[in-house]
Amino acid sequence: MSNQNKMIRPLSRGLHGDVAIPGDKSISHRSIMLSSLADTEVHITNFLHAQDCLSTAKCFAALGADINFLTDTELTVKGHGLHGLHEAAGILDAGNSGTTLRLMLGLMAAQPFLTTFTGDASLSQRPMGRVIKPLTAMGARIYGREQNTKLPITVVPAAGKLQGTCYHSPVASAQVKSALLLAGLYAEGATTVVEPYVSRNHTERMLAAFGVTPECEGTAVTVRPVQSLIAPAEIEVPGDISSAAYWLVAGSIIPGSRLCLHNVGVNETRTGILEVLSNMGASLELRNQRESCGEAAADIVVTASRLHGVTFGGSIMPRLIDEVPIIAVAAMLADGDTVINDAGELRVKETDRLQAIHDEFNKIAPGSVEIDGDTMVIHGGRPCHAAEVSSYDDHRMAMSLAILGAATAGAEIQNGDCVNISYPEFYDTLARLAD
Ligand code: S3P
Repeated sequence: MSNQNKMIRPLSRGLHGDVAIPGDKSISHRSIMLSSLADTEVHITNFLHAQDCLSTAKCFAALGADINFLTDTELTVKGHGLHGLHEAAGILDAGNSGTTLRLMLGLMAAQPFLTTFTGDASLSQRPMGRVIKPLTAMGARIYGREQNTKLPITVVPAAGKLQGTCYHSPVASAQVKSALLLAGLYAEGATTVVEPYVSRNHTERMLAAFGVTPECEGTAVTVRPVQSLIAPAEIEVPGDISSAAYWLVAGSIIPGSRLCLHNVGVNETRTGILEVLSNMGASLELRNQRESCGEAAADIVVTASRLHGVTFGGSIMPRLIDEVPIIAVAAMLADGDTVINDAGELRVKETDRLQAIHDEFNKIAPGSVEIDGDTMVIHGGRPCHAAEVSSYDDHRMAMSLAILGAATAGAEIQNGDCVNISYPEFYDTLARLAD
């Protein structure tokens, strides 16, 4: 990854045009994982060709799945059945990707061979105890640094079959839930995960597409062991609302803008940002609502409008967890204060995003952001000036800072190339829409 600064100029004339939203990151990961556990070929389209999902593809290729890219975003995957993975020749590198590592820990816990994982500097700092602890309680044998909580991590075969469990997770996390559900496919008896709030349900939906329908009741999800997965012939990945989020906000806050975002995934466990922006006064119109492979999608037209501050937290947080940095940008340009409660999970993302928003946004508009524990308060409408800011190598911080700079007085973003983790075309698209 190059560490060049990215220069963002102020865009006073607004953004215009159409954006084909790149494939959903969460669904792209899962499409490779589940296809690798079936035994018929799956043709995947609109796959997210970005570093995180390529990490998953490399890991599963190393475990024996036949993965062939036809183009950047189209591939076929053929596994060798639920018990058809084999030991990798080397160490698996999850790169920057928490989803790759946490979901694979669940899967590897049930395999009769050894797997060792590494990752980049950010992933090496992130907490893995939240999946390793409940997996260990199911009988998994997983070892890592700092009392089995940090990379590098080695998974060795369990003494016998994993035991199903009923796990009450202290955090609403799709990664924790998914890791346990994937392990549960191989366990003895049912595996239930109960969350404080419902998190994204792409694993449940994709399992259903592979012939295993989890039982969902409130915030509890249960899977039972199966002998095999039955793969669909095709998976069309909808666009990622987390990537659309940058244009939803840019189109709202840069006067004169009007954008049409095509093929946005609007699964209800992901649409918190649409509710918050609408409550702030954004003009969003959903068109052409449809369903593809069990996932809802729509086109969204966004037109610039005056925003005002709002307060949110609680059950909506898992439904917009990755969008908090860009929602904070909307709040910076809104009238009045925005209060974001229950934002503690942001501290364990690719960087401590609460601290990063506080430190970097205040360089652009001093005194705008205050944090108190898990609460962030943003005072909208403060004077902004051009500043050099850090992305902390976090793709979502880089893109949020770029939109903040574009909407105000410009910005110079350190290590801006980290957008390649989830949205390699981001800067090119920004330049095209501003033309
Ligand atoms: C993801 C779940 C979320 C999210 C991450 C992707 C997934 O993480 O922040 O970007 O694909 O399951 P948590 O489960 O840790 O909240």
